[in-house]
Amino acid sequence: MTGGAGFQRSFGDREAQAAGEASDEPDRRHLGLRPQNPLHRTGNVAAGEPNYRSAVILPPTVLITGATGGIGQETAELLASQGWRVIVSGRRVAEGQKVVDGIKKNGGQATFIQADVSTEENVKALITKAIAVWGHLDAAVNNAGISNDSELLENASMERFQEMFQVNVLGVFCCNKWLPASMDGSCNLASIAGLHGIYRTGTYCATKHAVVGLTKTAAIEYATTGVTGAYTEETIAALFPMKRMGVVADIARAIKFLIDSPFATRSALAVDGGLGAA
Ligand SMILES: NC(=O)c1ccc[n+]([C@@H]2O[C@H](COP(=O)([O-])OP(=O)(O)OC[C@H]3O[C@@H](n4cnc5c(N)ncnc54)[C@H](OP(=O)(O)O)[C@@H]3O)[C@@H](O)[C@H]2O)c1
Repeated sequence: MTGGAGFQRSFGDREAQAAGEASDEPDRRHLGLRPQNPLHRTGNVAAGEPNYRSAVILPPTVLITGATGGIGQETAELLASQGWRVIVSGRRVAEGQKVVDGIKKNGGQATFIQADVSTEENVKALITKAIAVWGHLDAAVNNAGISNDSELLENASMERFQEMFQVNVLGVFCCNKWLPASMDGSCNLASIAGLHGIYRTGTYCATKHAVVGLTKTAAIEYATTGVTGAYTEETIAALFPMKRMGVVADIARAIKFLIDSPFATRSALAVDGGLGAA
């Protein structure tokens, strides 16, 4: 029951920097740009360039924020089961370590980095550490998010809105700003609340609409070089044409699709059990 919004990052900025051209981008060179990902780039074999696809050496790496539980955990487990090396992040150390242990027990590769994404300094530190683990990052799932208010707008709390905005919007913004331009794909977690208004959910909806806007803009900015948003469970489920709520596996599969689909750049993918069609 969420909308994932994906975008593909560009190789152009990195190439421009390498060629000494000016760029308005934040200088991420200290974060350690990596060579081309051999999994995703194929040389022109006819012209005698190496065919990287036939010389695959390392599995790709992905950073997932908010992976200590829920959708982030499920996505971490899914990607790890398919060979990705996963950096699990979140604030809770014990929960994060448990996710990592579970992945390793099943033969996958994962590591945990503790981070609270609500400040820019924290996000920069997280990304620096994440790149240092395996030397580069191929993809990121900017998933950490909170929903802490369910009031009518006239009763909604300013403090809770600010807290949500800090994590859901500024956290995702900072990730988009500081992740290396050399990455192949990023996925920002929005929601159906990023595509529709929802009763008693105005402040959360506002944060998720902002995520969709950020993602569409990131898609434009990165396009030339390579971004593929009093209920009961029963009453919510009844709103969906499929008559059920989404489960974390529904979302993890959509996230995997987005980061695997470079040409789906700018997509705000509705993973909503058909809700938008009703
Ligand atoms: N579940 C749904 O029905 C649904 C629907 C639409 C959209 N979404 C979106 O999908 C994403 C994941 O949702 P979920 O249902 O899996 O949520 P969840 O089970 O509550 O998990 C949220 C994750 O975010 C992390 N987190 C929260 N605040 C953080 C912060 N300040 N810094 C770093 N990590 C933080 C939490 O880890 P720590 O507590 O360890 O920090 C946790 O791992 C969110 O962006 C949510 O808005 C969910």
